[in-house]
Amino acid sequence: MKCALYTSLAEVDFSESKVNELAYLASEKNRQLGITGYLCFNQNKFFQYVEGPVSAIDKLVKNLRSDKRHSIEILIESEEVQDRIFAAWSMRYVKNEELPNSHMEDYLARNMLYIQQNAGQRQHCLDNIWNQLQKISTVLDSYAKLKNIPTYPVIH
Ligand SMILES: Cc1cc2nc3c(=O)[nH]c(=O)nc-3n(C[C@H](O)[C@H](O)[C@H](O)COP(=O)(O)O)c2cc1C
Repeated sequence: MKCALYTSLAEVDFSESKVNELAYLASEKNRQLGITGYLCFNQNKFFQYVEGPVSAIDKLVKNLRSDKRHSIEILIESEEVQDRIFAAWSMRYVKNEELPNSHMEDYLARNMLYIQQNAGQRQHCLDNIWNQLQKISTVLDSYAKLKNIPTYPVIH
């Protein structure tokens, strides 16, 4: 298994319903490919985490890199994934108002930046990232249960 996480800047106008639609289509496709993960959109910036079979993630990363609707800032890939962190979500779109601490991704982004700047810290930063992703996943799972959110995004 492999994972990839990145931050990117929107290059077109993304309304709430546009992101919702994007997440829905992504979720449908990911389900067929065995990809799971989550997506955030905040102040014109995307954060996405994906995990799944190596070939599926490689193909998705290639698609994401050439997708003109956004431009990737930092991208981290790792093949050291043992278990899925977001097993129930083929693509969970996390709306900003949904969680009290929706800035949990800031911590991830800082660690991604460290990896880019200092390869020697890669393992330490990856451990931080995985710990944080576990926490985020736990929060998202209990929130979804509480609010009866289906395990894939639905267009409203
Ligand atoms: C922010 C963002 C996140 C995306 N996430 C996914 C995703 O999780 N899965 C996916 O298949 N496509 C995703 N896409 C769309 C891909 O970039 C690409 O359009 C799609 O994989 C094309 O697939 P196809 O040409 O095989 O139909 C995303 C696009 C953007 C802009």
